[in-house]
Amino acid sequence: MNITGNTILITGGTSGIGLAFAEEFHKQGNKVIICGRRKDRLAHLEDAHKGMITRECDIEKTEQRVDLFNWAITNHPDINVLINNAGIQLVTDLTKPVNLDGVHSEIETNLVAPIHLASLFASHLATKNDSAIINISSGLAFAPIAFMPVYCATKAAIHSLTMSLRHQLKNTPVKVFEIAPPSVDTELGHQRRTDKTQTHGGIPIHEFLNEAMDAIKYDLLEAPIGHAKGLRAKREEMFDVMNK
Ligand SMILES: NC(=O)c1ccc[n+]([C@@H]2O[C@H](COP(=O)([O-])OP(=O)(O)OC[C@H]3O[C@@H](n4cnc5c(N)ncnc54)[C@H](OP(=O)(O)O)[C@@H]3O)[C@@H](O)[C@H]2O)c1
Repeated sequence: MNITGNTILITGGTSGIGLAFAEEFHKQGNKVIICGRRKDRLAHLEDAHKGMITRECDIEKTEQRVDLFNWAITNHPDINVLINNAGIQLVTDLTKPVNLDGVHSEIETNLVAPIHLASLFASHLATKNDSAIINISSGLAFAPIAFMPVYCATKAAIHSLTMSLRHQLKNTPVKVFEIAPPSVDTELGHQRRTDKTQTHGGIPIHEFLNEAMDAIKYDLLEAPIGHAKGLRAKREEMFDVMNK
């Protein structure tokens, strides 16, 4: 797709992959709107990037997703790209009774919210000439790491959902992308790290961003990035390697 001149709504733009996309698209001459829960970060980003628009929103909450949609199409009817990026990552031990609040939260944020937002925006985006929904899945959609079973299941579901959404929108101008990141060094999973100086690990964000931007620019609709390609190509083998 054309990577300039769009109006792009990114969920979860306050850190990591969403922030990297926001800064890059802003630099490339797009109108960028980001949402997230952390007000201080949103305010800082609005100051730091002239013209970037922010909106406080907890996408885990149904009514806040509906509010976000209504606010967005009323105030920014030129929106032609939705990036479903916001996500959380929790550890779940399935051998003991699980904390259902955590399970619900992870599924609502990572799966229900992208389903809901895509469905809210689909008919609006279909009225545009060059529009897109970009879902951020994961290499773990193809081969799970077993200590994060719910997270990986939400990402496998995003992969499946994106295929169906692409099919349902095939007679419209809306391009439907799946970007599957490898492990990228962001704040992901910070809730579960007891040592707060520990990083997520993975490749530097700029390496991810370069390849992901190329995938978007050249219409690679299903785009595993970096080592996510290996996870997609050899899922059983990689499952054994990762879960030794
Ligand atoms: N990093 C990796 O290794 C990796 C690999 C594969 C896939 N991914 C995927 O990439 C996406 C971005 O993750 P990241 O690595 O960039 O992690 P991150 O640095 O933790 O960023 C997550 C973003 O999601 C937002 N968010 C989380 N829950 C939200 C909620 N309920 N409402 C609104 N915003 C919410 C956060 O904003 P607030 O906290 O301000 O709300 C933050 O901006 C996720 O979908 C993740 O699963 C990441």
